[in-house]
Amino acid sequence: MARLAGKIAVITGAARGMGEAHARLFVREGASVVLTDLNGQAGSDLAGELGDRAIFVPHDVSSSKDWDNVLITAEARFGPVNVLVNNAGVIGPVKSLLDFEEEEFLQVCAVNQLGVFLGMKAVVPGMVAAGGGSIVNISSIAGMLGTRASSNAAYCASKFAVRGMSKLIAAQWGHAGIRVNSVHPGYILTPMMVAATDETGGGASDAIPLGRMAQPEEVSNVVLFLASDESSFVSGAEHVVDGGMTAG
Ligand SMILES: NC(=O)c1ccc[n+]([C@@H]2O[C@H](COP(=O)([O-])OP(=O)(O)OC[C@H]3O[C@@H](n4cnc5c(N)ncnc54)[C@H](O)[C@@H]3O)[C@@H](O)[C@H]2O)c1
Repeated sequence: MARLAGKIAVITGAARGMGEAHARLFVREGASVVLTDLNGQAGSDLAGELGDRAIFVPHDVSSSKDWDNVLITAEARFGPVNVLVNNAGVIGPVKSLLDFEEEEFLQVCAVNQLGVFLGMKAVVPGMVAAGGGSIVNISSIAGMLGTRASSNAAYCASKFAVRGMSKLIAAQWGHAGIRVNSVHPGYILTPMMVAATDETGGGASDAIPLGRMAQPEEVSNVVLFLASDESSFVSGAEHVVDGGMTAG
């Protein structure tokens, strides 16, 4: 299958976890993919493994200068970017409001919130010139409600911000053929989840109607749909992928 034939995608935070799973699936479905991450070694190794339709660019999503470099490199190698997956994120320290430091709050928001803003700002001009594109912003169920466990005020605030910005940019740039959607994963078995909860798939499952945590690929399938032309009339929408956790 080549559901992403002709797509040129940037995926941030692609060195591991869900970003890695998205990159693997996108290449399999025919896209050319620019993987970006702070983690240069893992990112380059993965891009090397994925072959000619993948390159890695070192990237801190909170730096506008880095975004310029990502776009210039992507365009020089593959052509104008028509898909952006803003996936990179950090959870920050999992501790109470009263213990959370201002600096810690700003660090989380710099990656999760400012990073998504800078990414959209970087790709929109090229998408306008090309007649459209698809932006997929990875939020969280922490962007839908105040989850009690495994979160903090900065993570929750930044993930609500991602949801809000996605709607605003979808509304303001739809006329240019640009679609913007947010994806809200629940408990997904990635290094971030394991580090934050010591979870390896067992305990937290009680709170999930489907009775288990998810594999990263189960989120990738939704991201693939949103990146592809199959979702041509889907924009400004929230896509919860949580095994029913926030259903009731
Ligand atoms: N794992 C979950 O259960 C879960 C649930 C909801 C939402 N999410 C969100 O999904 C996304 C991916 O999470 P994951 O679980 O795969 O995380 P992860 O920690 O396994 O991977 C995140 C990747 O992002 C990279 N990264 C971190 N800061 C960066 C920066 N400033 N610039 C560029 N790259 C950076 C890391 O190096 C890492 O490779 C995040 O936005 C996260 O908030 C995860």
